[in-house]
Amino acid sequence: MRRDVLCSSCLPLDRLARSLGTCDVGRRVLKNTFANNAFENFEIAAYKSLLALCGAAGASEARGLLEQSLQEEERMAEWVDANVEKVTLQFVQHEERQAA
Ligand SMILES: [Fe+2]
Repeated sequence: MRRDVLCSSCLPLDRLARSLGTCDVGRRVLKNTFANNAFENFEIAAYKSLLALCGAAGASEARGLLEQSLQEEERMAEWVDANVEKVTLQFVQHEERQAA
């Protein structure tokens, strides 16, 4: 494994995210994986918040659809979480092939 690939993978997250800002397709896929992980969890929090407001807002009829959407977001968050390692290792393999 190339040292520069390993080192960039060990950067603190903010530096890593910045280093991915101007990047090729492989790095963009990795960056999008990080963003998707964050965004799915953002959506989960938003749906939980909406569910908490259903009663007070007199919108109990929305509860079923909100719970369904929450479950979909939770499944997607689990999928992204389960695939971060795989995407990262594929990115490293891609970088190694490009360098060869
Ligand atoms: Fe989502």
